[in-house]
Amino acid sequence: MSRPNKSERDDVTDIERVGVVGCGQMGAGIAEVCARAGLDVMVAETTGEALEFGRTRLFTSLSKAAERGKITEEELEATQARLTFTTDLGEFADRDLVIEAVVENEQVKTEIFQVLDQVVTRPDAILASNTSSIPLVKLAVSTARPDHVIGIHFFNPAPVQRLVELIPALTTSEGTLGRAQLFTEKVLGKHAIRAQDRSGFVVNALLIPYLLSAIRMFESGIASREDIDNGMEMGCAHPMGPLKLSDLIGLDTVASVAYSMYEEYKEPLYAAPPLLQRMVDAGRLGRKTGSGFYTYD
Ligand SMILES: NC(=O)c1ccc[n+]([C@@H]2O[C@H](COP(=O)([O-])OP(=O)(O)OC[C@H]3O[C@@H](n4cnc5c(N)ncnc54)[C@H](O)[C@@H]3O)[C@@H](O)[C@H]2O)c1
Repeated sequence: MSRPNKSERDDVTDIERVGVVGCGQMGAGIAEVCARAGLDVMVAETTGEALEFGRTRLFTSLSKAAERGKITEEELEATQARLTFTTDLGEFADRDLVIEAVVENEQVKTEIFQVLDQVVTRPDAILASNTSSIPLVKLAVSTARPDHVIGIHFFNPAPVQRLVELIPALTTSEGTLGRAQLFTEKVLGKHAIRAQDRSGFVVNALLIPYLLSAIRMFESGIASREDIDNGMEMGCAHPMGPLKLSDLIGLDTVASVAYSMYEEYKEPLYAAPPLLQRMVDAGRLGRKTGSGFYTYD
């Protein structure tokens, strides 16, 4: 879809400067989506090394988009020029919107929201989280601006998947929800669906029990990993079987989301099978570590 230019954008949104916290697979993808939409994007990571890794991931993805003809060489250069990188969240002072995309850990995210609350100067700036399962209200009330905190949940890979889920906390104002919707739909070109602040929202509430069932099936020896994945790819026309998809998402993220959902509902279908936890403990997190249910280069 064609995205509005800057003057058209000014008519629908007051968001020009975006901050992205975390440059893992989701943060890098979200930063790419925002920069390709013409926004000024600053990306923060914990260390210089993590930042360099994230920058390489992001620029490689942009170069691939150019190679595939999705963006021109000029657009590639202009998009790269709109991206800046830092290890200091203090540099986010002038941001209109910050999207947090760090590890799925409530304490880590809460600390980041407290820092953002201190450093972001615009009083009506939106502080958003890409969390898959952590209650938004907990992040919101850790700040002095709970009406401006919202969940904006992108899907993996963010430059490819069209959907975002918008999750207002109990404290989020209608104005913040409306601005987030305009931004994601009119500026980023995504399709937004709304969900209540319940662990898993819409998509993960349906997806995670399915992934956990596949892992339990593999663990119990009912079928091989290939047969489980082929079963869903060839039998149900899923583009990717559940074990491959778990590796893509990251087994630590699957386990963390399952844990949050189990905490919320106490239903056995959300309980992470022992094998999943052991693989996380072993550092076999899927594609991002080169090894999960499958091995990767
Ligand atoms: N993986 C998915 O498919 C997916 C899909 C949608 C949403 N999410 C959510 O997105 C978030 C990130 O997931 P991911 O898959 O990108 O994880 P990831 O492990 O690939 O990346 C997390 C990044 O956060 C960084 N980080 C940790 N603490 C930080 C801090 N204090 N400041 C700055 N950076 C910090 C890490 O260095 C790492 O690069 C999670 O909340 C996850 O639930 C993930």
